[in-house]
Amino acid sequence: MIEYQLSTRAPFSTSSLPSLEYEKVSSQSCDTKLHAALEGDSEHFVGTRSMTILRKMEQVKILRVKCKKYAVLTVTSVLLLLVVVYTSFHISNNINIQSPYVPRRTDVNVLTTWLAPVIWEGTYDYEILNEQFKKGNHSIGLIIFAIKKYTRFLKDFLATAELYFMQGHRVHYYIFTDRPQDIPNIALKENRFLHVIRSKPYKRWQDILFQRMKNIETQTAKQFYKEVDYLVSTDIDMKFNDHVGVEVLGNLAATIHLGFYGKHRTIFSYERRQISEAYIPWNEGDFYYSSAFYAGTVKEIYLLAKVCAEGIEKDKKKGIEAIWHEESHFNKYLLYHKPTKVLSPEYTWDNNFGTPSYLKKKRFIAVPKNHNEIRN
Ligand code: GAL
Ligand code: MN
Repeated sequence: MIEYQLSTRAPFSTSSLPSLEYEKVSSQSCDTKLHAALEGDSEHFVGTRSMTILRKMEQVKILRVKCKKYAVLTVTSVLLLLVVVYTSFHISNNINIQSPYVPRRTDVNVLTTWLAPVIWEGTYDYEILNEQFKKGNHSIGLIIFAIKKYTRFLKDFLATAELYFMQGHRVHYYIFTDRPQDIPNIALKENRFLHVIRSKPYKRWQDILFQRMKNIETQTAKQFYKEVDYLVSTDIDMKFNDHVGVEVLGNLAATIHLGFYGKHRTIFSYERRQISEAYIPWNEGDFYYSSAFYAGTVKEIYLLAKVCAEGIEKDKKKGIEAIWHEESHFNKYLLYHKPTKVLSPEYTWDNNFGTPSYLKKKRFIAVPKNHNEIRN
């Protein structure tokens, strides 16, 4: 039962208590003893100091009741709000898992402006990709250059590739080397083959890098196209550290260089001299890509290698070498032939760069080395 109390209490001047005048109070929550005292005392003490004290007591009492009500209301609202937030979070998470339209990562860029996916852990369902890929019965070639002292990386490279690279698919390792006798004897799993391709012992380490493109172009036209559907080209001074599968395959896939992810194009280490074929103006460029890991169909990799080899040859005739060797020409090519997949730095990491929070997997990592010792 609800009643308007103060306004009906005769001995009190209600006008002196404007804020309490219309206060609704549950009759059950009232302190009946106090009211009885107020009723009785008021007859004797109207107009006295005691009366004022009693009125104050009454005020406090009613405020207490009021506060209790607000506290209950507030706690209920907060609880309700928490339930709503939790439920909507739960629902949106479920949508992310089930819907093929919603990316599951919001802390990283997952799509380029030309609508190529950026491949990060948590943005795709590998089971789906793998099942789709299997239907094509495709073969994949992995190209590496193990020239001079770089053959020392082969053992770890191949052993980890056997564990993590394209599991369950037909793989051909293509090893360019000048030291075939240094190739370690590693037992390969079923459906995995190793090919040794004789290469020149290029004098300068820069030439090993520049000549990669011509070698890929030539050997693709001669051999690779007969044996594989996709080609992956990587550095040799690396090892696999986690799953690398068909999520990297598409027409053309290039990896964002770990040193330039999220950086502005003006700090990219593109070739900036106009005389070079690899020249990129300051106001152009999407990403700075690393040439330590790229992939594509045989046709796309052939075209890329051919165009880059031509640029390198033209530069050579002009007596100029691009700042980051074949990687500069590679970046120039990709500026005008956008990759259909962009690989996150998960695919070329270096532990010297630590572990930023956005990096959930280190799939392919640099092996520490002494540059001077290995190059000379
Ligand atoms: C370095 C890397 C080089 C080259 C360069 C580009 O970190 O070792 O191979 O990619 O970045 O700025
Ligand atoms: Mn390297």
